Amino acid sequence: MPKIKVLPHAEICPHGAEFEAESGISVCENLLNQKIDLEHACELSCACTTCHVIFTEGFNSLNDSSDDEEDLLDKAWGLEPRSRLSCQTLVEDTDLEIQIPKYTINMVSENHPKPAKNSIKVISSKDFDITNSAASHLTEMIKANNSFGVRISLKDSGCSGFAYQLDLIDDKDENDFAGLVNGVNLFIHDKSFVFLKGTKLDFIKKNLNQELVFLNPNVSAECGCGESFNFDNELVKDLSKN
Ligand code: FES
Repeated sequence: MPKIKVLPHAEICPHGAEFEAESGISVCENLLNQKIDLEHACELSCACTTCHVIFTEGFNSLNDSSDDEEDLLDKAWGLEPRSRLSCQTLVEDTDLEIQIPKYTINMVSENHPKPAKNSIKVISSKDFDITNSAASHLTEMIKANNSFGVRISLKDSGCSGFAYQLDLIDDKDENDFAGLVNGVNLFIHDKSFVFLKGTKLDFIKKNLNQELVFLNPNVSAECGCGESFNFDNELVKDLSKN
């Protein structure tokens, strides 16, 4: 019987594991059978990436990946050359060693520490939308920098009040709102969220220029140069304190 060795993962398998695996079923099913609670948000149907693992041994013995798996893997957090979706990899007769990535793109999954139920801060596209062109631009930036996602906040700026700040991040801030929007792992500073609700982020190319543009319905006034803006909302006082 082939063996599967799982390297330690702080939350899912703190001490690592090694067990005799069942051939003919997926690596993901094998882990779940051993009560190693790997995420599998789409129930093993190759539609989510949350079962992403890295094969540190035995990668070349695996069955070929499908086009669907390849497309999805592009969106997985912490992609490595020997990454696969474990629900799509069959155990055959070779021993395998796997590493479970620190995170998945599913920020509110069962396997990650959650805020208290009444304070879950999840972003959907209704709260903050990202157009296809902006999503491809951000995805390229995230990949090129091997980052975890994008964080958006408001900062004091210029004559009129505030400006947008967009950072690539390597880790999440537990206070941020978080979500997967149009394939982008998105985080929004908690106190900025109310001022960004309903915003659409677009990426516009015009002649030689290209820029990310925030279409924010909450803005009440802009300075003449368009660099800064303000809001007609008394919570603005709290925002300025950050
Ligand atoms: S469980 Fe969703 S892709 Fe494997």
